[in-house]
Amino acid sequence: MSDQVVPAVINLDVPGPVISRHLYGHFAEHLGRCIYGGFYVGEDSEIPNEGGIRLDVVEALRALDIPNLRWPGGCFADEYHWMDGIGPKQDRPSMVNTHWGNVEENNHFGTHEFMALCELLGAEPYISGNVGSGTVREMSDWVEYLTRDGDSPMVRLRKQNGREEPWKIRFWGLGNEAWGCGGNMSAQQYAAEARRFGTYCRDHGGNKLYRIAAGANSADYAWTETLMKQLGELGCAYRPQPFMQALSFHYYTIPGTWQDKGDATVFDTEDYYRTLAKAAYVDELITGHANVMDCYDPGKHVGLVLDEWGTWWNVEPGTNPGFLYQQNTLRDALVASLHFDIFHRHADRLVMANIAQTVNVLQAMILTDPDTKALVLTPTYHVFEMNKGHQDAASLRVDLPAGVPTRETLATVSLSASRKDGKVLVSLSNLDAGAPADVELDLRGGALSGVRARILTAGNLQDHNTPGAPDTIAPRPHDQVTATANGLRVHLPAHSFVTVEGRLG
Ligand code: AHR
Repeated sequence: MSDQVVPAVINLDVPGPVISRHLYGHFAEHLGRCIYGGFYVGEDSEIPNEGGIRLDVVEALRALDIPNLRWPGGCFADEYHWMDGIGPKQDRPSMVNTHWGNVEENNHFGTHEFMALCELLGAEPYISGNVGSGTVREMSDWVEYLTRDGDSPMVRLRKQNGREEPWKIRFWGLGNEAWGCGGNMSAQQYAAEARRFGTYCRDHGGNKLYRIAAGANSADYAWTETLMKQLGELGCAYRPQPFMQALSFHYYTIPGTWQDKGDATVFDTEDYYRTLAKAAYVDELITGHANVMDCYDPGKHVGLVLDEWGTWWNVEPGTNPGFLYQQNTLRDALVASLHFDIFHRHADRLVMANIAQTVNVLQAMILTDPDTKALVLTPTYHVFEMNKGHQDAASLRVDLPAGVPTRETLATVSLSASRKDGKVLVSLSNLDAGAPADVELDLRGGALSGVRARILTAGNLQDHNTPGAPDTIAPRPHDQVTATANGLRVHLPAHSFVTVEGRLG
């Protein structure tokens, strides 16, 4: 049987909207072993660290060019009181992390530690403030503590804790999932809170905040509409008022039910296709929220942010159900590559996305072994690494004149492309579980030289990396790319992700 051939046209000389690097953003919550044991082991650990921050984790993540890191939650953010996490560690009060495992949180990882982590990673901080159980004053003080220069009560406190200079902070979240763990509010109620909290998060000196309102759950377009209407109600329909510059929404890929989400490594082909179809649904969701936003903000001044996405499976057997620790297979990698193609196509409105979460929680980049302390890079990590050339690149539209093969509603071949600094990057996923495909790239308006391709695949969809076999799934050179009269022919084995890079001209 000959391979399925999929023609794809790319006009290399017609750049589209820029793909914000922040679509490759990350998320670290005080949840399970994400912060404690994952990012942070404390100064006394035998694991090499700087100020308690694990250096092996930092080194691995630096290879991804992480643009931003969201912290401290998630649901935890709306219970977090930042003043408990500053000053000498022995004096910091403890609290109970009621959302995640009912464990004691000693607040040893707080504001200064988070800012140090961002500096080590070279990532912009994205702080999620507490609207659910916090006060306007508390949030306003936090902004002042972090960003004000000169002299003021919060500046004096910061200096007392060892930091002279203010930090630069752009991304500021006004709560999290206000419809649920962030306060069980109605959209109307939250919109009023967002206006109030957003108003008192001041721009100190030259620091300009980019306030992100807590948005909808999945397809709750009415929530988005309620927030967008607020802009008009404040007296200007076309220019956003300063209380928010963006709004978010959350969407997780869960093929089962909340009670039984499915197993991370034990699944069959039907489960696999159901998962990929659920992942593809994010396209409809972004379109839906963007359409609502277009009605109130046709000039696209307000950004759409998907600040939690990824797969969510049943926890690994024997682990704390409140810690959300899960394995990560080739299936997760393909969920990620499909998301990125969709994100790239929505680069005109989608300005940020944050995978949940970076280490040891949900669809992680890195899994660490609590006993041996070994570190494993997941298949999802490799997708982020292979795709990093799309960050801040101009998107290139991909047209598929003959359509794509489908399995029920799922298109099984997915592509996206971009150009930056005279280079072109094309990402191609073959989501078919059993059949290879060949993509005929018809490259117009330019030619590529020095073409280099890499592939991420494995014998089985269920394959994953472990401390004993850390490179079961890792990128390898891909030589099944051939020049044609009009461009390139790229062979995609079943269930594979391929990137093709070349220099323009
Ligand atoms: O990422 C885990 C949780 O999922 C977050 O805390 C919450 O915002 C979402 O429901």
